[in-house]
Amino acid sequence: MNKPRNLKDALKKKLSKREMQFLRTSYDSVGNIAVIEIPPELEKKEALIGEALLEVNPQFETVCRIVGAHKGFFRIQPVKVIAGKRNKTATYRESGCILKVNLGKVFFSPRLSHERERIAKLIKKGEVVGAFFAGVGPFPLVFAKNSEMKKAIAIELNPHAVENMRENIILNKQQERVEAVLGDVNKVVPKKYKGKFDRVVMPLPKGGENFLAASISSIKSSGGVVHFYQFVPIDDPYSESLKLIREECKKQGRKCRVLSKKKVRSFSARAIQVVIDFRVK
Ligand SMILES: C[S@@+](CC[C@H](N)C(=O)[O-])C[C@H]1O[C@@H](n2cnc3c(N)ncnc32)[C@H](O)[C@@H]1O
Repeated sequence: MNKPRNLKDALKKKLSKREMQFLRTSYDSVGNIAVIEIPPELEKKEALIGEALLEVNPQFETVCRIVGAHKGFFRIQPVKVIAGKRNKTATYRESGCILKVNLGKVFFSPRLSHERERIAKLIKKGEVVGAFFAGVGPFPLVFAKNSEMKKAIAIELNPHAVENMRENIILNKQQERVEAVLGDVNKVVPKKYKGKFDRVVMPLPKGGENFLAASISSIKSSGGVVHFYQFVPIDDPYSESLKLIREECKKQGRKCRVLSKKKVRSFSARAIQVVIDFRVK
């Protein structure tokens, strides 16, 4: 029998026509683990769908189903193994880095890989980088492997993610250049990192605006760059974020200049994710 070409092909004789209409064929690939959404209408067929995904993509060892939305400050999305090895620790590779990711205990998305690469190219030799909301460390570790930065301070509130990030720092032999700090950006930064960074990356698109003050204050007095991510309405993507940036810089008596603003990805019917790069002096 020929190998099925894709998930639909693999399931066309196993699901009814009605069931096929509910099937979502897109999934996230986190190294050796595929993460897929299965609508409630197909709940009873989850094992069948998982097996079919493994048949089509033999590079996966495990298929996990998303069983809830991103929740709370840690933005954790619960997942359940539906096929393959009973293992929720993914081994993921990106831009020369290897990352272990404890799915279901930490936030991780492979979707911002192009952003990590873009920023790594902007980092100049000797820079000290604030990698806020660092999760398991994809931003600071991609920077470490792909730039001549001096060091990144990677701040993260979820203890599971920090533990995972510390393992990843060792796995990538970056103990000298990436330091994981467990804590709240709004508490740790004013205490320890005022005026310390050449560059700050803020990958917290929901609620990141509440940390603009800390980020701006952490930029060296000689100047530096902030990369600010936000979920915004499609019809007016930049006005509100630019207003917040300008107001906060003014409040802190600092000059600011927008270097670039662009869409990063679609998010929902009415919202997109954007990134604004701005220079603070
Ligand atoms: C959208 S995730 C990004 C994670 C990682 N940078 C990535 O791209 O995979 C946001 C992260 O910020 C962390 N976080 C939320 N509030 C925080 C805070 N006040 N201080 C530090 N980290 C925080 C969450 O636990 C989560 O890991």
